[in-house]
Amino acid sequence: MAEEDLRVLFVGSGAVNFGGAEGPWDHSKRLETLGGVKIVAIADPILSKAEEVLRAKLEGPHAHMYKDCIAVKSYLDAISLTKPNVAFIGVPPVYHGAMDPPHDIELQCVKAGLHLFIEKPVSVVAPEKFIPYMEAVERIAEESKLIVSVGYMFRYHPAIEKMQSLIKQHGRPLVHVNARYLSCATALSHPVWWDKEKSGGPIVEQATHFCDLLRYFGGDALSSSIRAVAVGPSDTPTSPGYLSSVPEVIHEDSIPMERRVPRLTTAHWFYSSGGVGCLTHGVTLQGRKYEAAIDVWADGLRLSLEDPYFPGCKLRARIGNTDKEEVYHFPDADPYLNEDEVFLRAVRNGDKTLVRSSYRDAAHTYQLSWDIRKASEA
Ligand SMILES: NC(=O)c1ccc[n+]([C@@H]2O[C@H](COP(=O)([O-])OP(=O)(O)OC[C@H]3O[C@@H](n4cnc5c(N)ncnc54)[C@H](O)[C@@H]3O)[C@@H](O)[C@H]2O)c1
Repeated sequence: MAEEDLRVLFVGSGAVNFGGAEGPWDHSKRLETLGGVKIVAIADPILSKAEEVLRAKLEGPHAHMYKDCIAVKSYLDAISLTKPNVAFIGVPPVYHGAMDPPHDIELQCVKAGLHLFIEKPVSVVAPEKFIPYMEAVERIAEESKLIVSVGYMFRYHPAIEKMQSLIKQHGRPLVHVNARYLSCATALSHPVWWDKEKSGGPIVEQATHFCDLLRYFGGDALSSSIRAVAVGPSDTPTSPGYLSSVPEVIHEDSIPMERRVPRLTTAHWFYSSGGVGCLTHGVTLQGRKYEAAIDVWADGLRLSLEDPYFPGCKLRARIGNTDKEEVYHFPDADPYLNEDEVFLRAVRNGDKTLVRSSYRDAAHTYQLSWDIRKASEA
């Protein structure tokens, strides 16, 4: 498959595949930068959205990559009409990642022989229902030599790579990994996000990126050790769970209280290594810029990463018997570009070992996020 163009199907014509106001994601833009692919179909049940996106692309500087592309309602029709060999699945979790049609998008795609890039979170059903589904998808992918990659893009961030190499060089086991993710209530304009039944809730849907990094650095958590508490939603202005400002399109009063999202969740656990992991997620900022940070501690080592979503991202490292710290900057980091480049290279070379977040590994991150959610609700 080395030189020929890959034939890409986008499942979902929303923000993660085609860009949106909240953040730096946009797979189509990265594929345009990388080249070597043809976009053959954009599928979305809201056909007008897919058509609009396609129209804009055909008027843009990369029109040649879309010249044979069709906009359709059904991804199954897209597969039979355009014979893609790669799919980017970027739909809200309530629409995929489960055995019951029409939620079995991944299964239908691998049955049709497509390599898959799947956005997080991988599902919204409980892990005990998701895992047999993941196994079924993986079995077919394995038999048909298909690549399946999940969109945990921070694994491809140069700051995370730097942290991994500093930890390896230092050679001491980690004592603690501590992640904080604070998003902006005023910037979250997808109604689905605010309903735990549809999104899985903020740990499963959003802090999943940091659940993944907590595993990437610390290994697997001992599930029996996970403890969590949360500040729940409230309609009382004097309560800490009251949000004074959310986007106009969000009508939380139409969501039953037990399905509304917690305002803050904090969790801790033992890793099987004996170290301790800790995650705090909140939705209490206003404005648009999220704040996210992760610290890693070991005997004689402290690494602190701030703002990995943004070009101002900074890594501070204090290592060895010294009070001095080194500061690293990553102004040109584009982990979305890197994850897409690695995925396409893995497809071309038939080498799944290049992928840093397999479907099976992502299932472990999914399990951790659900364990935290359940512990916080207990
Ligand atoms: N990795 C990241 O940083 C990142 C960033 C943004 C979003 N995401 C994830 O990507 C996913 C999609 O988010 P989004 O912001 O693009 O949502 P979105 O609402 O902007 O777009 C999703 C689109 O999928 C369509 N859709 C629903 N079911 C479909 C189906 N069966 N076939 C085809 N299209 C279908 C919807 O109609 C909608 O247009 C979510 O799981 C989200 O968490 C990841």
